[in-house]
Amino acid sequence: MSATETASPSSRADIGEWSKLLGREIGGLRGFVTTHRWRIVPFDRILPLFSDIKRDGADKPEVFDIGGGEGLLLFLAERAGVLSRGLSVDASENNIRVGTKALAAAGADTVELSCTSAIEEWPNRQFDAVTMIDVLHHIPPALQRAFVDEAAARVRPGGVLIYKDMADSPFWMAGANRLHDLVLARQWIHYAPIESVCAWVAEKNFSEEHEETIDRYWYRHELRVFRRPADA
Ligand SMILES: C[S@@+](CC[C@H](N)C(=O)[O-])C[C@H]1O[C@@H](n2cnc3c(N)ncnc32)[C@H](O)[C@@H]1O
Repeated sequence: MSATETASPSSRADIGEWSKLLGREIGGLRGFVTTHRWRIVPFDRILPLFSDIKRDGADKPEVFDIGGGEGLLLFLAERAGVLSRGLSVDASENNIRVGTKALAAAGADTVELSCTSAIEEWPNRQFDAVTMIDVLHHIPPALQRAFVDEAAARVRPGGVLIYKDMADSPFWMAGANRLHDLVLARQWIHYAPIESVCAWVAEKNFSEEHEETIDRYWYRHELRVFRRPADA
């Protein structure tokens, strides 16, 4: 069964409630952004993908989330009951500090956050799934391929890389997101064309298992699931 046909483990209403819970623990402007992020990011399309990840000896996957911010995705996955353990790295010390405190207060004891912006400091092991959600456009173009290659290297044989980023077209949607990042992240972003990302992962012999373009308001999202061969 493809991920598009899989029943969602949680409704958008659930996701909204859980986001509110974490957002309340975070507080302030960051808490507000966390509370409402699900309205523009299709977590309801990403979480069902976790249910499709098979794991040897366990029914839920262990996930490595790259650029996971305050840990919202892994928190939602834990609440949805589709996570065994989750580790997230993020470049922002503040995100890690605030997120770690909020996750503890919300009782999310299977999610761990760690601060680093350097690939060399990522864990040197493999996971059932690696996720990279809305991170690549924050990475300088010269480093984008290494980010994708190293993310793929941390997927265990038979596991998946779940990738989502903002589309670089049409220009008005890409422009709206650019404005969003100028205001919230104070950063001039660099889109990685989805075709390039797919080509890089294909070179590693991963198969593209799921492809979806999702519009939420003026934001266009490109979601992909790449599976590593079981014997690679
Ligand atoms: C748009 S946010 C996405 C957060 C999270 N993935 C989500 O979807 O809720 C982008 C995140 O990437 C992080 N980031 C940027 N450059 C990074 C790097 N070199 N290594 C790790 N994280 C990075 C930022 O700190 C920020 O939290």
